[in-house]
Amino acid sequence: MDGTTTQNDLSHVVEADKRHVWHHLVQHKAFETSDPRIIVEGKGMRVWDQHGREHIDAVSGAVWTVNVGYGRKSIVDAMSEQLMKLNYFAGAAGSVPGALFAEKLISKMPGMSRVYYTNSGSEANEKAFKMVRQIAHKRYGGKKHKILYRERDYHGSTIGAMSCGGQVERNIQYGPFAPGFVEVPHCLEYRAQWDLTGEAYGQRAADAIEEVILREGPDTVGALCLEPVTAGGGVIVPPPGYWERVQEICRKYDILLHIDEVVCGVGRTGTHWFGYQHYGIEPDFVTMAKGVASGYAAIACCVTSERVFDLFKDDASDPMNYFRDISTFGGCTAGPAAALENMRIIEDENLLENTTRMGDYMLDRLGELMDKHAVIGDVRGKGLFLGAELVSDRDARTPVTEAQIGAVVAGCATEGVIIGATNRSVPGLNNVLCFAPALIATKDDIDQIVGAVDKSLAKVFA
Ligand SMILES: Cc1ncc(COP(=O)(O)O)c(C=O)c1O
Repeated sequence: MDGTTTQNDLSHVVEADKRHVWHHLVQHKAFETSDPRIIVEGKGMRVWDQHGREHIDAVSGAVWTVNVGYGRKSIVDAMSEQLMKLNYFAGAAGSVPGALFAEKLISKMPGMSRVYYTNSGSEANEKAFKMVRQIAHKRYGGKKHKILYRERDYHGSTIGAMSCGGQVERNIQYGPFAPGFVEVPHCLEYRAQWDLTGEAYGQRAADAIEEVILREGPDTVGALCLEPVTAGGGVIVPPPGYWERVQEICRKYDILLHIDEVVCGVGRTGTHWFGYQHYGIEPDFVTMAKGVASGYAAIACCVTSERVFDLFKDDASDPMNYFRDISTFGGCTAGPAAALENMRIIEDENLLENTTRMGDYMLDRLGELMDKHAVIGDVRGKGLFLGAELVSDRDARTPVTEAQIGAVVAGCATEGVIIGATNRSVPGLNNVLCFAPALIATKDDIDQIVGAVDKSLAKVFA
């Protein structure tokens, strides 16, 4: 292996894992006849498995997290120093890195002002949902409590977050869910619900949100929760015209706008720190997790405007008039210490610019593959978050099977490249390959990734 780990015999580790670890998102029957992949070490864009085999990681830790790459000593040093000084104190008190990271983060988010620390994306979203509900009780007698979410969007794995989940397959067998969450249609033009294109399509898709609001009653709808670019639901960049109209609709009906930046946040979409900043919209809540500290520490944030914050302190004589919530591990100091250094790296290494340049380059390269492989029906994305939708018939847009998508991912792994694909998301439409290389990716890295996809597609669809 490349770094410090010598290639010891890891067979005991594999055995211990097979016997005792319950892996995320995995059907374990396969491990009765094969071994799980164990990732032992990482450096930059590359990881090494238990066999010492090198892979280029085109999905930043499989779920779009390790934005600044593996093996960042300066982040580890910042955490280590902080941990020796003070590892934890509950968030009812402040901490030095907590205050400094909040200040830095807010300096990148004009219009926002308060950071509530938690430890996962699901939990950050739950905090926003609770705030919306509490505002409904304080201002509207509990009536304006409904939260709208979009078909194909995902906001987390807890029952509350799944109640706000637009991915049918993810939710099957886990209900009943919490009441008061209502779905609005997706906005993916490639799978169009309306016979329109471009801006007209974007406006129509946003108008569909207004239709739901009018059906439910605007006085019952408290918030709208959206991903800026839908991630696991198929890499969906909303069409032009969409966001402007969404903002208009929220203002018209006094509906709070909650943007879930758990995937897109902290640079993933390039040029701007956050996905929503590409569109000039003004959210009331922004939640973020994965890229906040690039996976070096578990940290997530629910960020609000001062207008929202004020609603929780306007009457100190009322014992219920504050946000009566805690996240135990939201008080861990390693998170903000790592997040501060993570942001410094992104700034000093110009990674927002690199993400835009490399994202455009990768989109072009995937576009070239489209000319070669009829099975690619659509390529889309923003910055270094990209998808390729595979179809067996371009005209009919018939999705390929999940077995075929799985074979393409496995074919890339054989070439030493880890890519992703939508899974257990939208029934019949788990047919999108996903790419989210670290923001440090170079042209060479992207050429290697696209080269592996090219070879794998040629093999699977020969
Ligand atoms: C858009 C989005 N929101 C929220 C979450 C949940 O984050 P976590 O797994 O940290 O709870 C995810 C996880 O993939 C996500 O993609």
